Amino acid sequence: MNLEDHLGDIIRKARIAAKVSSVAAAQAANLAQETYAAIEDTGTSVLDVDLAALASVVGLQPQKLKRIANGWVPAAVDLSLWRELRRITTSCSDYSVNCYLIWDEVTREAALFDTGFEAGPIFQVIDENQIQLRHLFITHTHEDHVAALGPIRERFPKVKLHSSSKHAPIEQRNRPNDFIDLGSLRITNRDTPGHAEDGVTYIIGNFPDDAPSTAIVGDAIFAGSMGKAPENPDLAKQKIREQIFSLPADTLICPGHGPFTTVSQEKENNPFFK
Ligand SMILES: [Fe+2]
Repeated sequence: MNLEDHLGDIIRKARIAAKVSSVAAAQAANLAQETYAAIEDTGTSVLDVDLAALASVVGLQPQKLKRIANGWVPAAVDLSLWRELRRITTSCSDYSVNCYLIWDEVTREAALFDTGFEAGPIFQVIDENQIQLRHLFITHTHEDHVAALGPIRERFPKVKLHSSSKHAPIEQRNRPNDFIDLGSLRITNRDTPGHAEDGVTYIIGNFPDDAPSTAIVGDAIFAGSMGKAPENPDLAKQKIREQIFSLPADTLICPGHGPFTTVSQEKENNPFFK
């Protein structure tokens, strides 16, 4: 799976967060305006670009940005370590979103994290594995993450919803020290607003055979990038540092878009962080 954001997307997000105009960014990198615009649009044509100068003017870490330009992607993940965790990716036109399904292999109780665009592929995994969907956790209420909520609730009317939306009924709202047991798995939550006001990260621990915990982060952070947060860029970064980077280094990050990554790989390679 490719990175969610190419080099140009990363630079544009950082530039907007830093409130730098594209004219000023082009000047800093010694580029014609059209050349700079093409870089933001395509993420390519960067051979002669002074990426370090560009990185510092938009507030990105220069070495990490160069690594992305050189094709960095997170190490491939052996999903069989986590019994049982599945990523389900659905698309709408050219745009994809991930949701995640976990279950306890003994009790067969399952929890879904976001819905993506389509319920069909989720029903298929549920049916094939003969599991019972008990919980539906929402990382944030942007449309792509909750688009299939209707058909899922229709088929599983007793599924318990969890979200941090202030519009959700009180009994569905996450509380800071909540934990939910799913067989031997344990699910906790940490607030990660910034990209979305109701952004929350769910941590799943106690996997069999000491597999590392997993963090379902929604759009808070992506491999090599982060969800756009033009209104609250500082808050978004602060929450990633405090709530996600404080997790154990081997924690598997499961983003709403793009590939799996880990806390250690993001600390090492994500150009939004020094
Ligand atoms: Fe989002």
